[in-house]
Amino acid sequence: MDKITVTSPLLPPLEELSPYLEDIWSRKWLTNSGYYHQKLEAELCDFLDVPFISLFSNGTLALITALQALELKGEVITTPYSFVATSHAILWNNLKPVFVDIDPTTFNIDPDKIEAAITQETCAILPVHVYGNPCDNESIKKIADKHKLKVIYDAAHAFGVTQDDSSILNMGDLSILSFHATKAYSTIEGGAVICHSQEMKDKLDKLKNFGFESEVDIKFAGMNAKLNEVQAAFGLVSLKHVDAAIAKRKNIADVYYKDLDGLSGLSFFKPADSLKWNYSYFPIIINENKFGSSREQLFERLKENDILARKYFSPLITEFELYKLFTGDYTHSEKVSKNVICLPIHADLSLSDVKKIVEIVKHDNK
Ligand SMILES: Cc1ncc(COP(=O)(O)O)c(C=O)c1O
Repeated sequence: MDKITVTSPLLPPLEELSPYLEDIWSRKWLTNSGYYHQKLEAELCDFLDVPFISLFSNGTLALITALQALELKGEVITTPYSFVATSHAILWNNLKPVFVDIDPTTFNIDPDKIEAAITQETCAILPVHVYGNPCDNESIKKIADKHKLKVIYDAAHAFGVTQDDSSILNMGDLSILSFHATKAYSTIEGGAVICHSQEMKDKLDKLKNFGFESEVDIKFAGMNAKLNEVQAAFGLVSLKHVDAAIAKRKNIADVYYKDLDGLSGLSFFKPADSLKWNYSYFPIIINENKFGSSREQLFERLKENDILARKYFSPLITEFELYKLFTGDYTHSEKVSKNVICLPIHADLSLSDVKKIVEIVKHDNK
């Protein structure tokens, strides 16, 4: 029997991609801000309702370059409840991460705890819109303005998310996206930085191309982080299908909301009416004492039944050897990380498989 995976890539119909590939073959221009690269940047600005976008070969390099573009020095406040690329990007810029605990209801950095972590050395805040659920930008912006700090959002999970009809990708000084194959929208590997001025876009475009200002001038040690033409074409075709894929994800979430509602010791995030979400993850939190089984037991039971859920994010960033020296009070992050399971959700998941998952979860709820 086929395994039920936590996610499945959004693959555009091959016959729709073929004409693009034929055109790329005839143009013989494969990378370095080619025709399809430029076209994808323009279409994404329109689709996402953002003013400027610079494409990257992945989200991690987008984040590293975003921090580099702001020419930061010192400490960056961030969250331990994220994928390790968030804090790696800080280290890659010779900056020091300062971890602040999350709000246990949103899983995002707790704005009320940020000010206590600010020192003379603090230069920026790097919050994550975890699972695409927007951070409390109003509070974060107030703190950032007061202390003259930059705000860079790791919006890797937040493709297409809007709050009160406005894109959350416009929050902060810069936001980054990941277009990895596991995300709601993908270019196989890929990413982007969203910014608010042509000047910043030009800077990012140079930084992702080795830092070349011109053929004979370099000011910064830039990356090679360019997205190629084949992946840009894949992204253009996928863009035509992403709304339909998100709608299918929503149908699955609706079944989970209905069928898992009221189970003792199980909670899940449900978007407010003001939020247009992308349903890229379906995290549930297990309270072992009330649920009757532990997170591990439920995870294993799902696995025995060929359902590959994911403990995401577990371990916490601060639990990895590399980050253990950054000690602090991460009570809520630790609790969520120990009890979270992301259930399968993707456009190819059948409703009968969703029902099967629900039955197993219910069976373990004693
Ligand atoms: C929160 C977060 N930040 C950054 C990244 C890095 O993105 P990429 O895999 O495209 O390098 C990811 C990827 O999974 C992520 O989940």
